[in-house]
Amino acid sequence: MSENWKYSHRAVAMKSNVIREILKITKKPGVISFGGGLPAPELFPAEQLLEACKKVLREQPENALQYGTTEGYPPLRELIAGRMNNIGVPCHPDEILITSGSQQGLDVLGRVFLDTDSTVLLSKPTYLGAIQAFNAYGPRYLTLPSDDDGMTVDGMEELIRENSPRLIYLVPTFQNPDGRTIPMSRRKVIIDLAAKYGVPIIEDDPYSELSFDSEVPDHLRKMFPEGVILLGTFSKLLAPGLRIAWLIAPKGLAYDRCVRLKQGSDLHTNTFAQHVIYQFLKTGALDSHLEKIRKVYARRKDLMVKLMREHFPEGVSFTEPDGGLFLWVTLPEKINTTELLPKAVDRKIAYIPGSAFYTDGGGQNTMRLNYSKPTEEEIKIGIPRLAELFAEALNA
Ligand SMILES: Cc1ncc(COP(=O)(O)O)c(C=O)c1O
Repeated sequence: MSENWKYSHRAVAMKSNVIREILKITKKPGVISFGGGLPAPELFPAEQLLEACKKVLREQPENALQYGTTEGYPPLRELIAGRMNNIGVPCHPDEILITSGSQQGLDVLGRVFLDTDSTVLLSKPTYLGAIQAFNAYGPRYLTLPSDDDGMTVDGMEELIRENSPRLIYLVPTFQNPDGRTIPMSRRKVIIDLAAKYGVPIIEDDPYSELSFDSEVPDHLRKMFPEGVILLGTFSKLLAPGLRIAWLIAPKGLAYDRCVRLKQGSDLHTNTFAQHVIYQFLKTGALDSHLEKIRKVYARRKDLMVKLMREHFPEGVSFTEPDGGLFLWVTLPEKINTTELLPKAVDRKIAYIPGSAFYTDGGGQNTMRLNYSKPTEEEIKIGIPRLAELFAEALNA
């Protein structure tokens, strides 16, 4: 019956998310997955969160279980503003909107800025979830290729001048999917062009606080607060299941429109989770947790890179990020990583084919690997297996 119902153009046009489909396969027992973007579950600070939950329910059940304001729980917004100012991102609590994950922030921004055929400028590759969120609003994409320093800027001015994009979308630091970081010199060019042509920048920033040893470049929001909307999230810093993130938009129209369009979708973000995160943050426990996960992820990344150097056949290259959760592998042109995936799964190993992160069908010979979720044991078994698969495909 439901096959005959009339659906919206938007629903018909939406393809399923490759990542979700692959995650289903990788749940099979015995599969070593480099596919998802999940934090290491054994490191979740469950005991401390349990204490936070108890405190919230004992002391404030009447607020924590009640409807809340769309903007978010005020003490949490204040605390986040304080943290952001500490890491050099100027913002006022009134510019913060608490969202249900940054994914909701992307959807809200799509609704606020995009009409059918509006243009969005982004890098290739870029975060698949952003493409998915924006696709619902029917935009066209203007893409710039990446090199070792992330999105290149040659030709950016012409693209902007000729197409007047509504948005520039960037993950400037330890980008999902490739782990690349845009350096200061390029950030300045991007900001200058955004300012010259009056195009808002979305700075999607889940990973800058997961830096292993290097200083990260200044946030775009620090360089140009009135022109940048920043998305931050507790998903990778703490626990994605809580679904608590924040959007920082300049006060006035931009902020008000985001609030209004979020309101129509869910009234507000989960009040209980906001209270729990607030209690957790107040204890100062996030800093020690971050120190711990940075160390573990850095070790896993180092091990992965070492094994890749030892085992990967000639002609296979990869990025070596200084933070975040992902690295990016490029194979010789003749290999198609989407076609290779079933063979990988036969060998009980999984990755995300790189083409998922392109809006225009490029990247067939690339893949994203995650190093936060697999254990060192799994990395030791999985990387040589992947290397064997590459060797076999290259010799075929
Ligand atoms: C670049 C980027 N933006 C947004 C998100 C969504 O995160 P959240 O769990 O906060 O919705 C992710 C998650 O992987 C991401 O990598």
